[in-house]
Amino acid sequence: MQITDKYTFHGELSVPGDKSISHRSIMFGAISKGLTEVSNFLQGADCLSTISCFQKLGISIENDASRVLIHGKGLHGLTQSLGVLDVGNSGTTTRLISGILAGQPFESMLDGDSSIRKRPMKRIFTPLSEMGAKFQCFSADGFPDCLQKTDLGCAPFRISGGHLHGIHYLSPVASAQVKSAVLLAGLYADGKTSVTEPVLSRNHTELMLSGFGADIRSDGTTSSIEPEPQLLGQNIHVPGDISSAAYFIALGLISPHTEIKINNVGINPTRDGILKAALAMGGNVTLLNERTVSGEPVADILVKSSTLHGTDISGEIIPTLIDEIPILAVMAAFAEGTTTIRDAGELRVKESDRIAVITENLKAMGATITPAEDGMTIEGGPQLHGARIQTHADHRIAMAFTVAGLNALGETTLDDETCVAISYPSFYEDILSLTT
Ligand code: S3P
Repeated sequence: MQITDKYTFHGELSVPGDKSISHRSIMFGAISKGLTEVSNFLQGADCLSTISCFQKLGISIENDASRVLIHGKGLHGLTQSLGVLDVGNSGTTTRLISGILAGQPFESMLDGDSSIRKRPMKRIFTPLSEMGAKFQCFSADGFPDCLQKTDLGCAPFRISGGHLHGIHYLSPVASAQVKSAVLLAGLYADGKTSVTEPVLSRNHTELMLSGFGADIRSDGTTSSIEPEPQLLGQNIHVPGDISSAAYFIALGLISPHTEIKINNVGINPTRDGILKAALAMGGNVTLLNERTVSGEPVADILVKSSTLHGTDISGEIIPTLIDEIPILAVMAAFAEGTTTIRDAGELRVKESDRIAVITENLKAMGATITPAEDGMTIEGGPQLHGARIQTHADHRIAMAFTVAGLNALGETTLDDETCVAISYPSFYEDILSLTT
């Protein structure tokens, strides 16, 4: 794909439904009794992987694009899949479904694409094994690979579930996927289960599971759940994904003579770091029409062209903007002065090693960037020029560098933009709808 810098942008749009919330609506609907109806579900490849895994586990799910109907069978209604559960590119599917499968009285085999086969799973194997589940990893060529041999523990792997004990887990990482896997396993345990994280991560599991009827409580960075609740199907309206809105926030701020309104965006405080960072950089960002939808805070976001300046991003804010760091790095390259990002070592184990991939691509566009083990330092200012971008099949890299290319001098080429389908299939149509 080729991108040039000929545009200004005007108008309004609604970004697709939130990826984290869409995944959870399928999973929690599947293990609840009765019908769950989901509107504004994200029809991205990751969420479709979640649907297909639960269909293989015996759940009837109808998806006609405008709404998804899940015919839930209750906590103990899943049945063993005949084949491998294919999680595709989705870390959220892999880790959350593992929490549920840990509580089932049958074995399940999980596998995904080449990216998922490199992502660390030991972070869920450790607490779920402590609760009583058993895991066996296989190397990609099919031979059993001893868990002790690898620090990471990767897909493909087999889970043997059943007979779980409640635990209190002190998580070494601030990860909503780890927290959610343990809490979901806690639904099947013989007593209370709790998780304490070093820094609070996104809390959609806690909010939505409580709406389905679970006895789940949060106190600071600790969340606890009681086993064997009566979960009942719900109607869920998924808010727009702030992680997708982030590309339009950045586009609105760094493009000249531009004004963009993004409607119906989830602004949960465990996800709103991009708004705080944009404001700290001097961005003209206004929240309009704030309201609550399906238990989640939502607003429309108005952004206007701004002169951005550098900022420091580290500590507790990091989990609230972890997926937005590729586009924040692009904003930093267009800002005046220095931006530092630290405490973000998790970027190394996302869909790609995002610290390395952001560095490689921003350098190719002429930016000054120094990577660190847990972040990066970017000297903003000089006009970026077009370049050949390697996306490494990472959807967030493709979208962030599309926004960069739209504001760089000359032509930018992406080696593969099809990966945007993971979280935002209509990304390029939505960009075009704003061009003037
Ligand atoms: C997610 C949690 C985050 C995030 C991912 C979605 C979730 O991952 O990066 O895109 O839906 O729980 P970690 O839990 O690994 O931080």
